[in-house]
Amino acid sequence: MSDAHSGAIESSLQEQRVFPPPPEFARTALVKSTEEYRQLYKRSIDDPGAFWGEMAGGLHWFKKWDTVLDWKPPYAKWFVGGKLNVSYNCLDLQIERGRGDKAAILWEGEPESGMPGSGGSVHRISFRQLKDQVCRLANGLKELGVKKGDRVTIYMPMVAEAAVAMLACARIGAAHSVIFGGFSSQAIADRVEDAQSDIIITADGGFRRGSIVPLKANVDEALKKTDRVKKIIVLERIGSAPGKDFKIDWVEGRDVWWHELVRNQSTDCPAEPMDAEDTLFVLYTSGSTGKPKGIQHTTGGYLLGVNITTRYVFDLKEDDVYWCTADIGWITGHSYVLYGPLSNGATTLMYEGAPNFPDFSRFWAMIERHRVSVFYTAPTAIRAFMRAGREFVDRHDLRSLRLLGTVGEPINPEAWMWYREVIGGGRCPIVDTWWQTETGMILITPLPGATPTKPGTATLPFFGVDAAIVDRTGKEMGPNQGGLLVIRKPWPAMLRGIFNDPDRYVKQYWTDVPGVYFTGDGARRDADGYFWIMGRVDDVINVSGHRLGTMEIESALVAHEAVAEAAVVGIPHEMKGQGIACFVTLEHGRKPTEALKKELITWVGKQIGSLAKPDQIRFTEALPKTRSGKIMRRLLKELATHGEVRGDTTTLEDFNVIAKLKEQDEG
Ligand code: WTA
Repeated sequence: MSDAHSGAIESSLQEQRVFPPPPEFARTALVKSTEEYRQLYKRSIDDPGAFWGEMAGGLHWFKKWDTVLDWKPPYAKWFVGGKLNVSYNCLDLQIERGRGDKAAILWEGEPESGMPGSGGSVHRISFRQLKDQVCRLANGLKELGVKKGDRVTIYMPMVAEAAVAMLACARIGAAHSVIFGGFSSQAIADRVEDAQSDIIITADGGFRRGSIVPLKANVDEALKKTDRVKKIIVLERIGSAPGKDFKIDWVEGRDVWWHELVRNQSTDCPAEPMDAEDTLFVLYTSGSTGKPKGIQHTTGGYLLGVNITTRYVFDLKEDDVYWCTADIGWITGHSYVLYGPLSNGATTLMYEGAPNFPDFSRFWAMIERHRVSVFYTAPTAIRAFMRAGREFVDRHDLRSLRLLGTVGEPINPEAWMWYREVIGGGRCPIVDTWWQTETGMILITPLPGATPTKPGTATLPFFGVDAAIVDRTGKEMGPNQGGLLVIRKPWPAMLRGIFNDPDRYVKQYWTDVPGVYFTGDGARRDADGYFWIMGRVDDVINVSGHRLGTMEIESALVAHEAVAEAAVVGIPHEMKGQGIACFVTLEHGRKPTEALKKELITWVGKQIGSLAKPDQIRFTEALPKTRSGKIMRRLLKELATHGEVRGDTTTLEDFNVIAKLKEQDEG
């Protein structure tokens, strides 16, 4: 734990800096003091049934639940017997509450529509318009034979129609499985097969950093690897952009244009009453073993979790313009671009493209243009902006901002301070929110009116969240002792399982530390009880806030004909948080050349997606293994990080391997 250790020293120096909640938050936020937080927290832990039952009263239910929580560890059921619909809560309920004409989605496209700096085309979609669009697509899906309980794959750019597609699935009770638009055709084929999904919603393409991402072509390519999919709905995004002439292949009978499908559909589609425990969606994420797993989230508990956290953590007020910059293809996009804000009747901003297109002022220009008041992004983005320089920020008026958030990876105190001073003008509180695809909702976070913040810590658990730092046996660690981050009680938005693989749920999350949910993260708590997340302790790496499994990258590498064996480790990376280092042995007769390195990097990008491209490829004659044949990743990690091996090497099979790698390093 040497990285974690030096991180701990750095952080403990930062602990002296404490920022109390700004007075206007302490006056107007939902929770107004530390004392109030502690009381509510205690109640939520002592009597979760009463606490969450009361909270759930704010949602719309077709039928009220019989029991708030049925907990048979490690299986939880929330709001048993209750019936509701997520799309109803995000749309109809908001219209009933008088928000029909309020903007539900503000969308901005990437290509600038006129003069440089003018921004992309903007669509404003009111709650009523969004409901009409959702209903028409929902009716279109039904016409294509989609039924309650089916899985619909969505592979789209960041356009408002991606939100329409997700809500349309929710409306008719089909589970969506969204695949991030940066994933490759192989990744699409794997996920479609695993999810047993026979319909894909995509677009001809999307704009990203001035180029076109050929989404439809990727889907076509994927469908050569599986014959599962019967229908593809294609949104015309590029073809309909001014001045673009973009051709795609078309398979008659299989491919359907979105605009043709919805043209004659009714804007009336009754929301299907779903059981609280019915699956709302499956979302694939990387684990420490094998292929990505389909995390299953349900209707009632998930909606409540994201609804409540959005309201309390982001302090949403009626006139806020809220912008979470995550792509809809990740959990942050699901929970905090879409379901959390809309179920609170908030205006959510979506942006199609890259943060640095046409330059690093794009985000700040957008904040000014749309008067964004709540802004939620990732540490990686903040570090990139920091490096680009504050002149890009200073050109713009950011006085509309009142609250900032961060998520996805530990934020280094330097980036935190820059975010606070340069973006937040020293006046906006920062909520550093810790959570995971599996947790569905934010679990550790400051509350802006109640929690004094310190740069680099996600601070305290949200209501109902019993987080602790323990050792492998489950024994709780003392203040500032590093250990494993676990959650000891169920929470409403927790995953209910892994699609297609029920045994793995128990093995993956409930076995390493007996009786509790193990997050895969290492952390410590300081004397104030604040959680300092140190990062993953399993074989998951976090590259620019994106989760990747080392095994996935290894499998991609060994699928190349030149590669015999591969071992992949995460290494510290100044900008990306973690980078990817690969140790590779070659098949007999293959030469370790620079050209082959480049080829392997491109290869991994093609197999998984650009986000998985290795930072380093290191050829070696053999990999260090234990006597039982297990690759000693810890040693490789140390070697890649420090250039030397410090740990215990007595179980090593062949010391020569390390010596050779070191020589190479020095040479
Ligand atoms: C990391 C993203 C430190 C952590 C919502 C976790 C964080 C993994 C934070 C989940 C944070 C997320 N501080 N680390 N505020 N937020 N992480 O599933 O390692 O893509 O286990 O969910 O990101 O990544 P995932």
